[in-house]
Amino acid sequence: MSRLDGKTALVTGSVQGIGLAIAEALAGAGARIALHGLADDAQVAEATATLKEAGAPEVRFFDADMADPAAIDAMMDGVAGWGGADILVNNAGIQRTASLAEATPEIWNAVLAVNLSGSFHTMRRALPSMAERGYGRVVNIASVHGLVASVNKAPYVASKFGLVGMSRVAALEYATAGSKSTGGVTVNCICPGWTETAILAPQIEERAAAHDGDRAAGIADLLAEKQPSRRTSDPAEIGALALWLCAPIAHNVTGTSIPVDGGWTAQ
Ligand SMILES: NC(=O)c1ccc[n+]([C@@H]2O[C@H](COP(=O)([O-])OP(=O)(O)OC[C@H]3O[C@@H](n4cnc5c(N)ncnc54)[C@H](O)[C@@H]3O)[C@@H](O)[C@H]2O)c1
Repeated sequence: MSRLDGKTALVTGSVQGIGLAIAEALAGAGARIALHGLADDAQVAEATATLKEAGAPEVRFFDADMADPAAIDAMMDGVAGWGGADILVNNAGIQRTASLAEATPEIWNAVLAVNLSGSFHTMRRALPSMAERGYGRVVNIASVHGLVASVNKAPYVASKFGLVGMSRVAALEYATAGSKSTGGVTVNCICPGWTETAILAPQIEERAAAHDGDRAAGIADLLAEKQPSRRTSDPAEIGALALWLCAPIAHNVTGTSIPVDGGWTAQ
């Protein structure tokens, strides 16, 4: 696996969960990390220490609210002033479950703003300078819900299908940027199935309640319904795939949406 020395990676929502695991994988290959997310000082300090220990030569924290285009613009100015992002991982995301009729306009707007529009605002700013350098990687963390639907997730599914579609457009627009030797500019989605992070907590709790609060039984219930492997993924497994997508060897892998879902979308 090639190194990412001299490269800078902006990973949104990297203070915890899948984002932190991706940032750790990139840090392990030598990338500088623009750390980002909603977090208090202690969580930022902990994530920074984790990333430095993993191998990041520098870590700088950005706290833009991904629902606020002006704040995202200010963050992208800050990252540009730090040398610019060679790698952009749009990972920040939120989940709200409710039937379509019960999902309020506020829920719709919040989910679409963070999960879809936020990625538009970062990509719009990052891609032109990637093309100028001849190397760039955008890895968008979509979901199996960017490929198939489930009930009670209309805003989330709409946001993730939108992210998959927007990523394909960007992949086409930047397909000829750079060369085999510079690495090119690619845009891909990773589409996780059930992966054990905080975002799953409300759904696990709901299922566990039906099993007298047994968390393991709640997780088994979720898996049995959708994920044929009956195993959750670890965030580090998503990190390993993101790292591979950032390597020069992946210069011709663009416009894809790669499921990490134990067979969920094969059904
Ligand atoms: N865990 C899963 O099973 C799973 C499955 C498919 C897709 N995903 C996707 O993976 C991504 C990461 O989720 P996770 O599972 O690590 O969950 P998580 O809740 O642990 O992490 C979400 C991250 O997004 C950040 N974030 C949320 N709202 C924000 C806002 N308004 N402004 C700035 N940052 C914000 C948080 O600070 C946090 O770092 C999400 O896009 C999610 O939709 C997760």
